Amino acid sequence: MDSQTPHGGQVFRLARRLNRPASQILDFSANINPLGPPSSMREALTSAFDTIRHYPDSTHHDTKAILARQVDCDPEAILIGNGAAELIDMVIRYQNPHRVIVLDPAFGEYRAAAKRNRVPVVSVPLHQESFETPWHDILSIAQPGDLVIWNNPHNPSGRCFSRHTVDASIKALTERGIFLMIDESFIDFVSDREDVSLLSLATSPGSLVTVVRSLTKYYAIPGLRCGYAVADPDWIRRVEALRDGWSVNQLAQVAAHVGLLDHEFAERTARWLSESQSQIETLWTASPQYIRYRSSVNFFLLRWIHEKTSRQLSASLEAEGILVRRADDFIGLGPGYWRLAIRTLDENVRLYRTVQALLPNLDDPP
Ligand SMILES: Cc1ncc(COP(=O)(O)O)c(C=O)c1O
Repeated sequence: MDSQTPHGGQVFRLARRLNRPASQILDFSANINPLGPPSSMREALTSAFDTIRHYPDSTHHDTKAILARQVDCDPEAILIGNGAAELIDMVIRYQNPHRVIVLDPAFGEYRAAAKRNRVPVVSVPLHQESFETPWHDILSIAQPGDLVIWNNPHNPSGRCFSRHTVDASIKALTERGIFLMIDESFIDFVSDREDVSLLSLATSPGSLVTVVRSLTKYYAIPGLRCGYAVADPDWIRRVEALRDGWSVNQLAQVAAHVGLLDHEFAERTARWLSESQSQIETLWTASPQYIRYRSSVNFFLLRWIHEKTSRQLSASLEAEGILVRRADDFIGLGPGYWRLAIRTLDENVRLYRTVQALLPNLDDPP
């Protein structure tokens, strides 16, 4: 992670500023499942405490075995990382592409990782408002040896595209020797993930497609960290010979095992998200003050028509210990955008009501 790249989830920073414990900050800025971490994980981590006297399993044997069964691929096609962020860095470092093609607006770590690895970045804008991918432009810009990073479901928009709409474009890219990293970090929140995921393209020997996924959002363990990539087994063998074998700590591995097998948690999460998505539609109805964007996952975009409203509101919310992610710094979004996490039903109402109470007290927009 690049400490200079803006991210949501700066809970400790705000807690220090307000002189409050971090537990009193209500964080809508990081897209973390509010039902987690699962209680099964708490118990398992407590019992596993003494195992931290050993070095972590650098082969990630058990984690790979569980994942291989779940995603239906060979364990050798799986690479475990200290969060998706480490895997994004590893893909760029070890595929060593000529250029990285980033589709903006995009998660900041793509650029940060390219910069760290001294790989030039080419920015291609997504279609405004719809956030659809301009495959035609990508096909005319990308050269053999380049790496295209495609994020589905997409952060920051929350849009999600069916695999069938992109199959042909991806085939055309890889046939020309262009690498593709598909970041599916939010896929577990999607109800019809079979229709969305392109994981099956990554498992075949010699594939130029790598799929990266995160466990930190869904299981609410960003402070513990774990993620995985699915890719060509030969490439993974080469990477594993070069990487830091202890970057995924022992407790993170235990947490992953328990989380992945907790079906009750998955069912509760699906119920919560479906209810909360409907609630967001009802709360944030059409307004002359903002535009709310449609989302398929656990966060959504909002655009305040007046940038001044966005600035003043976010500052007032912070003073009350509520953190939102102003998204103006994403290339291609511009002023007034917020990316809001979906939290529990009560917390979503609290955010909405606090915003409504603050709005009449703001200075008039220009
Ligand atoms: C699209 C996307 N990919 C990857 C990550 C990194 O996830 P992790 O916490 O697993 O490193 C994030 C984190 O916000 C993200 O938004």
